[in-house]
Amino acid sequence: MSSHQHQHQHQHHADSSSGGHPAATDIDWDALAPVLESGAEMHRPLSAQAAAWVAEELPAEDVRRVFDIGSGPGVLTCLLAETFPYAEVVAVDATPQLLDRVRARAVRSGLGDRVRVHAAEAPDGLEELGTADLIWAGNSVHHMGDQRRALAAFAARLRPGGLIAVLEGGLQARHLPRDIGIGRPGLESRIDGASSVWFEEMRAALPGYTATVEHWPALLAAAGLSDARSRSFLLDIPAPLTAAQREQLVSAFSWLRSVVEGRLDGDDLSVIDRLLDPDDEQGLMHRPDSFLLTARTVHTARSTGS
Ligand SMILES: C[S@@+](CC[C@H](N)C(=O)[O-])C[C@H]1O[C@@H](n2cnc3c(N)ncnc32)[C@H](O)[C@@H]1O
Repeated sequence: MSSHQHQHQHQHHADSSSGGHPAATDIDWDALAPVLESGAEMHRPLSAQAAAWVAEELPAEDVRRVFDIGSGPGVLTCLLAETFPYAEVVAVDATPQLLDRVRARAVRSGLGDRVRVHAAEAPDGLEELGTADLIWAGNSVHHMGDQRRALAAFAARLRPGGLIAVLEGGLQARHLPRDIGIGRPGLESRIDGASSVWFEEMRAALPGYTATVEHWPALLAAAGLSDARSRSFLLDIPAPLTAAQREQLVSAFSWLRSVVEGRLDGDDLSVIDRLLDPDDEQGLMHRPDSFLLTARTVHTARSTGS
């Protein structure tokens, strides 16, 4: 479920009639919602470590408002509400259907009175929210054309002493051994290469795209924030995966297949098709060697403004 430095699941309008042409880079977030939600659930142990680290920087009793920008279906929103039990948490997303999922999840989790939603195409539309003690942006800044402008807009919404936590980058996820017994060894490395090309094209097509050196601590400093720190968190789910985890893996590889269409050779695409085939004994639903190993990095910085 990763494109380059983009370790989450996307679905998009892959045009199967396009033959060998590279896949488009627009993302249909609404169609992606179920896989985004199950993926975030699978990553919950990693997210919990990250949230606990952020909580070390901010005493829970001081945190009264949290914004989760690019919340997706709200797995992290609810985790943040649990981590900061005195806070109102506002999930901000550009896709209303995802915000419906946030609401439903919050109510199911008994957090309905503290979790609000706000539809906005960030970094626009944040002013009306007022300010927050913590702004979390998980794998969302890279969907904004001008990442510097986005961070500056977030920084402007922080209370003095408040913290920004940006989850961006880490290590490419691994799900299979280097040699899986079918096709040429090293399939996942080649998928990484192809998906990183897709990722750059996806970014370049965003409105207001501005090329940016993705040195997150420096970008946070440029937004007027101080005391930047970075830390990475590991997710290690060894083989054998459960049936539910395998289904998640199939969704992730389906997404990856759409991303690498036209960017990998036909032999590799055929191997991916075998992995996705529920009736193939070498497929992801049957093979005993699949796993999930990944790391994600969280970058924090503090507002010193008054
Ligand atoms: C990869 S998902 C991450 C979801 C969630 N933060 C997580 O870590 O599981 C990116 C999310 O950002 C949202 N998004 C993309 N561009 C956005 C924008 N300009 N403003 C607000 N949300 C945006 C998408 O709708 C999607 O829900």
